[in-house]
Amino acid sequence: MKITAYSCRPDELALFKHFGEKYGVSLVLVPEGPSMENADMAEGSQGVSIITTPVNEPLLRRWKECGVQIVSSRTVGYEHVDGDAAERLGIALANVSYTPNTVAEYTVMAMLMAVRRMKAIMTRFLGQDYSLLDIRGRELGRMTVGVVGTGRIGETVVRLLKGFGCRILAYDIHPREELAGLAEYVELEEIWKECDLITFHTPATEKSFHMVNRETLSQMKDGVVLINMARGTVMDTDALIEALEQGKVGAAALDVVENEGRIYYKDFKYQPLGHHDMAILSAMPNVLMTPHTAFFTDEAVSDMINYSILSCIAQVKGEENPWRVR
Ligand code: COI
Repeated sequence: MKITAYSCRPDELALFKHFGEKYGVSLVLVPEGPSMENADMAEGSQGVSIITTPVNEPLLRRWKECGVQIVSSRTVGYEHVDGDAAERLGIALANVSYTPNTVAEYTVMAMLMAVRRMKAIMTRFLGQDYSLLDIRGRELGRMTVGVVGTGRIGETVVRLLKGFGCRILAYDIHPREELAGLAEYVELEEIWKECDLITFHTPATEKSFHMVNRETLSQMKDGVVLINMARGTVMDTDALIEALEQGKVGAAALDVVENEGRIYYKDFKYQPLGHHDMAILSAMPNVLMTPHTAFFTDEAVSDMINYSILSCIAQVKGEENPWRVR
C-alpha cells in the first residue's frame, strides 16, 4: 500500500518514517501543499494525506486518475476539501481525531493570559516598564464561562475548567450526557447574556459562520472576554474590531482569524502582510493572537500521522474507517 503525504514539515518526517515502517506502508513525502502541479506525486498511491491546503474538484479528479481511493486530512476540520466532489468521484474523505487535550490546554492558557492581561504585562516588561497601571486582572474561577461547542475539545475544556471552580454554561446542538453536573446546557442567547468569558469550539459550518456578529455582540456583557481556538469564520472580524474599540469586548485570544489561510505557517519576516484586520487586532494590547498553533504538540502531531495512515489502510482494506466523514 502506498500513501502520498503532502505539506510534510521537517518535524513530521521521523514520525512518518516510524509509522510507515510500523504498518508496512510505502510513503511519498512531499514538502509542498497539494496542487495541480504536483498532483502526479500521487500516481500509484491509494491514499493521500493532506493538511489545510484547499482541495477542489479538478485536483480530486486528477487524483482519482492516479488511483487514489481516500483523501485523509490529518486535521480535525475538513472544510478545505470539496466533500461533494469527493463523493461524486467515489473518493472517501476522512479527518483525524487527535488528542483533545492539546487544544483544550492551549485554550485554558489563552483564557488565563487574556484575563490576567499577559500580553500587556510581557510587552511592558520588555520595555522595562514595571508599573502596575492598567494590568490588574481577574480570577478565572470567579467567572461564568460559556463553552460553545462541546465536541471532544469543548468537553475537555469543561473538564479542565471545573478545577478552577468556574460556573460553566454550555451550548451544543448535541448536548453530552457525560457533562451533566459539570456544565449547564443553555440556549445561545443565555450564553451571550450571562457569560463573562466565552470560548468557541465549533467546526466551520453554515450555522457557526459569523456566530459572533454585531447583533450577538450587543447581547453580551460589557467587557466580555472572547476566546477563539476554532475557526476564524466563527467571528465577523469587522464587528469584533468595532466591539474591541468600543470596549464592549474587554479582551480576546485568537488562535484563528478570517482569511488566515495564505498567511499562517509561512514566514513573512520583513514583508508587508496585506491583512489589515490582523494588523489592527495584533496591535491591540488586549488581543492575544497566535498563528493557529493550538494543535501543535508532540502528542497531537504523532496522532495526526498515525491516524491518517491507519485511516487510509482501513479504507483501502475495506474495513470500518472510524475517521471517514464522507
Ligand atoms: C485542525 O486539526 O482542524 C486544526 O485546526 C489544526 C490544523 C490546522 C493543523
